[in-house]
Amino acid sequence: MRHSSWWRGWLSGALLLPAVVMADAPLDDELSTAMAATPNVEAGKAVFRLCVVCHQTESWGVEDGNYPQLAGQHSSVIIKQIADIRAGNRDNPAMLVIAQEKVMGGPQAIADVTAYIQTLPMTPTPGVGPGEKLDKAERIYFRKCAECHGSNGQGDGERYFPRIQGQHYAYLLRQLNWIREGKRRNANPEMARRLNKLKPRDLTILADYVSRLKPPAEKIAPVGWKNPDF
Ligand code: HEC
Ligand code: HEC
Repeated sequence: MRHSSWWRGWLSGALLLPAVVMADAPLDDELSTAMAATPNVEAGKAVFRLCVVCHQTESWGVEDGNYPQLAGQHSSVIIKQIADIRAGNRDNPAMLVIAQEKVMGGPQAIADVTAYIQTLPMTPTPGVGPGEKLDKAERIYFRKCAECHGSNGQGDGERYFPRIQGQHYAYLLRQLNWIREGKRRNANPEMARRLNKLKPRDLTILADYVSRLKPPAEKIAPVGWKNPDF
């Protein structure tokens, strides 16, 4: 476990109210070191060997949502999530061992594997939901989510807001439920507050709607694309 110094915790708490739409600041030392590192894509390819058993060689995860797609995600978000998983701020029992420094390496390895993932295109066929009430979902999305995740779910790397467009439906739904229940401890508090006011049914249609938002065409792989590095 790493702890940020007490005053930074206090400061971020004190600043939270006026700064609700700002991302969580990078408090963790490892996060700042990885963000500042100069990444080596070749070295990252070697680290990525550890990931393919779950996230698959294309880094697209699986359509049933057990493993999320990583391709297309902003570097800052990938780095922060790995640092959070390592630091125990986000529970991920499946990845806990792999994510340890003695297995995957230090902040440089996090930067390297993240840079390698940036070279991969996104899946053309994410898992989607049943396709019901998408118009209602769109209204909720623009009222409650778009200011941070963007009008098309593209997120904002500079502010650590994840890209959520084209992510697998079942993964999105699990995260929304976990954030709502407080199980995902690193979640943005303002998002958690808004999700809390929604009905379980709304989360289902929101996850479905978001999974169907199309990433920019140049980010999407042709159907049947295989990662030539593996
Ligand atoms: C044993 C399976 C397993 C392995 C190996 C694994 N992961 Fe994961 N990973 C998961 C699971 C499961 C989740 C989603 C957990 C959840 O539902 O919250 C995840 C989530 C993530 C996330 C967060 C994604 C997001 O959208 O927030 C990142 C980033 C990530 N993994 C990167 C990696 C990298 C890089 C490696 C290799 C160094 C790796 N993982 C290896 C199982 C694995
Ligand atoms: C105030 C800004 C903000 C708002 C509003 C917001 N989010 Fe988020 N969201 C975030 C941040 C920041 C994260 C990443 C949290 C972290 O791990 O630090 C996130 C994470 C997520 C994730 C997990 C992504 C992944 O790859 O694991 C999903 C899904 C999500 N948000 C959906 C939504 C939906 C749907 C809404 C509207 C109901 C919403 N968010 C509203 C900021 C926001």
